[in-house]
Amino acid sequence: MFTLTGGLILIGVWAKHRLMGYRKPNTVSADDRNARLAYVHDVVQSWLRFLPADVSVRGRSVLELGPGSSLATGALLLAHGARTYTAVDAFGLATDETAEFRRDAIAGFNGELQQEDINTAHAALHGSSLNFQYHVDAGFDIPAMCLGQTFDLILSCAAFEHFDAIETTIEGLTKVARSGCVSLHIVDLQTHTNAIRERDPNNIYRFSDWFYSLLAFPGQPNRKRPIDYVRAFVRNGWVDVQVIAAKSIPVDQRDKLMPGLAHPFGRPEMDMQMLDAVIISRYP
Ligand SMILES: C[S@@+](CC[C@H](N)C(=O)[O-])C[C@H]1O[C@@H](n2cnc3c(N)ncnc32)[C@H](O)[C@@H]1O
Repeated sequence: MFTLTGGLILIGVWAKHRLMGYRKPNTVSADDRNARLAYVHDVVQSWLRFLPADVSVRGRSVLELGPGSSLATGALLLAHGARTYTAVDAFGLATDETAEFRRDAIAGFNGELQQEDINTAHAALHGSSLNFQYHVDAGFDIPAMCLGQTFDLILSCAAFEHFDAIETTIEGLTKVARSGCVSLHIVDLQTHTNAIRERDPNNIYRFSDWFYSLLAFPGQPNRKRPIDYVRAFVRNGWVDVQVIAAKSIPVDQRDKLMPGLAHPFGRPEMDMQMLDAVIISRYP
């Protein structure tokens, strides 16, 4: 039943993207300014919460992958003492965002910030500053977009599951990582379509590769699992690779929601109970 409903939804989503292209990066209404501000606060707070205890953003050059419609995350990171913020994306969804929104994100932050950092962040938001950069390239060539810049913190939220080839992305981000760089990615592994996400969060994994790729569209979740990220980071020389399950299918619902998945998602190493994963690693 879930497979049939999900298949129809997949066709609907595919048709919508074919007609309208890739536009809306998350479920927050574009008209709800307060909800948008709350969302960026939540993203930054999540990064800070999951960062290893010995790592802070202070003094760090930060790269964000796939910021979506807002660079207010970057404004907040600068206000937390980051030295520089650079964002890269394949779609220029944040191009029209105002500096005012980013300033408001700093002003509305519910926690302690140092005035000197706030002043630095405000200065970076106005005019073209080397401290605050945004690069867009449809080919998502990370080293080319970074123009020789290197980083000691690489972050993303709800973005990696949309990248076409995570292996190429991880190879690319490795080229711009400094020694000691920490990479932290919050990955939403679930079905993204609201109509079925709550009832069957693993719905996208019910379809064969053939059927799923037949209905491919820009930004379609890539169905990579935590093990795929671990393997790619290790292959590129990263160490201390850690996966934190930020959200999982409750134990009493697993018998109902985990059977009936397509190959290879039935394998134990696929960790299909994991719905949100945080992938953290360190570049030696
Ligand atoms: C769901 S949005 C998340 C945006 C933001 N981090 C957030 O939490 O709202 C996904 C991000 O991935 C980017 N993206 C989607 N498909 C991509 C692709 N094939 N290659 C590179 N970036 C992609 C989008 O432009 C967007 O920035």
